[in-house]
Amino acid sequence: MTETIVILDFGSPYSPLIARRVRESQVYAELLPWDTPESAVMAHNPEGFILSGCLRSALEPGAPVLPGYVIQSRRPILGIGSGMSALVLALGGRMTSTAAQKYDLHRVNIPCSSRILQVGDDPRVWMSCADRVDAVPEGFQILASAADCPIAALGDGNRDYYGLQFHPGLEFTPAGRQIIARFVRGVCQCSGDWTAQAIIDHAVRQVRTQVGDARVLSTVSGGVDSSVATALVSRAVGDQLSAVYVDTGLMRKDETQWVRKAFQDKLGANLHCVDAAETFFFNLQGITDPEAKRRVIGETFIRVFEATTHNLGDPPFLVQGTIYPDVIESRNLQQGDARPIKTHHNVGGLPEAMDFELVEPLQNLFKDEVRVVGEALGLPSELVWRQPFPGPGLAVRCLGEVTPGRVEKLRQADAIFTEELAHAGLLVYRQGEEKQGTAQAFAVLLPVKTVGMANNQRTYEEVIALRAVTTTDFMTADWARLPDELLARVAYRIVDEVQGVNRVVYDITSKPPGTIEWE
Ligand code: XMP
Repeated sequence: MTETIVILDFGSPYSPLIARRVRESQVYAELLPWDTPESAVMAHNPEGFILSGCLRSALEPGAPVLPGYVIQSRRPILGIGSGMSALVLALGGRMTSTAAQKYDLHRVNIPCSSRILQVGDDPRVWMSCADRVDAVPEGFQILASAADCPIAALGDGNRDYYGLQFHPGLEFTPAGRQIIARFVRGVCQCSGDWTAQAIIDHAVRQVRTQVGDARVLSTVSGGVDSSVATALVSRAVGDQLSAVYVDTGLMRKDETQWVRKAFQDKLGANLHCVDAAETFFFNLQGITDPEAKRRVIGETFIRVFEATTHNLGDPPFLVQGTIYPDVIESRNLQQGDARPIKTHHNVGGLPEAMDFELVEPLQNLFKDEVRVVGEALGLPSELVWRQPFPGPGLAVRCLGEVTPGRVEKLRQADAIFTEELAHAGLLVYRQGEEKQGTAQAFAVLLPVKTVGMANNQRTYEEVIALRAVTTTDFMTADWARLPDELLARVAYRIVDEVQGVNRVVYDITSKPPGTIEWE
């Protein structure tokens, strides 16, 4: 059985980032709502527990509390933010609420080394001091303090219980990665068995058990997730798999030819290409609401597959490239803990009455893990390192009505932006490199017209927004500081070459508060 750290999610939007940190230490992390029944949690046989933070005070009535069985299990515990408060309260310590609310950058002092913090660790931390520890529980020591937060970390080395007032999951806490690694590899003594090969073996076994000798249908979009999911299932069931590529008419320039080449030439896969552009545009007529677009596209996808499957022996199983952040987001939606941000078409947009059972071999993986697995499976690196492209395609970048003409305008503008970025060597983002590229960069067509001029004549045409971000996890992102000359050249070319566009703007919003896509 894979070594597992269970993260009990107290509701912080940063909880998935803790799971990523644990996985970076090559240890499997399972993120579960804090009130998951004991039997479901203990079925994972956790080597240790992490209690994530929460957006509300741990002292408010009705706030999440530490379930009794966690202490009784005698496994190591790391509480973060409100998770630390819950640990302190459960063990008889005292907390107070203060007026300080917001997260901010602080510097901590670490007086002596412990198993999770060491003298010399980068002192910068991302912390909220809203709830403060007044009295530590018996057996605990103060491990770090800050100017306005005397107890920023605490621990009981005998029982292996630790608490951090600050958040180790964010890049704003540079030592966060090491702190989590020390907890899972040192305190919990995990050996680190969550490797690419282990992930593949695990997924292959699961897929074989799920599908037996039945036929499986896979949908390839050309994106990283659907490609890696297809390659994994192909490794598991070989010829039982039929891969289908649907040209929705919402793809990027030359995408269809590109996918065919990658799959047929490089993987030798049997790829069936279906041209369904007309159906998609027909169903999208008159729809401008972003969520309605996603629902229509999700439903149209399934209907097109259903129609295609008759020729392919009616496979009862359908492969989807759903990844872990999609699962977490949709679980939060179902629980009503978090407000819906967007319906990802491969999760929430599926129609109720579907003729397929889903096979989702990536549903426990983060994006960077998907890429590592893709490489280990031998997929071409240009495919594995491709920028992500949303399932609903250009439709969610074509704000307002999605018509063939508007999508073509957008496609041309997007191709110009991509071409110039590639030319400047900025199409791929590799953290830590001097010249930082982009994790995702694309054009968005706005449903607004503005006045401009060309050849001494007034023009009244649409606007293209350029969006480029740097990120590794896609859950938070910063806007890319692209060179002025590059932006100027892209703007000039778009207005010059794309008919019906007379203005280009650049999006300088980070995520949060913005999202990466505009819809
Ligand atoms: P947001 O816009 O939520 O996007 O910041 C985060 C990442 O998810 C991608 N995205 C999608 N991927 N189906 C997908 O497969 C979707 O419906 C979808 N919507 C957004 C987005 O491109 C970014 O990489």
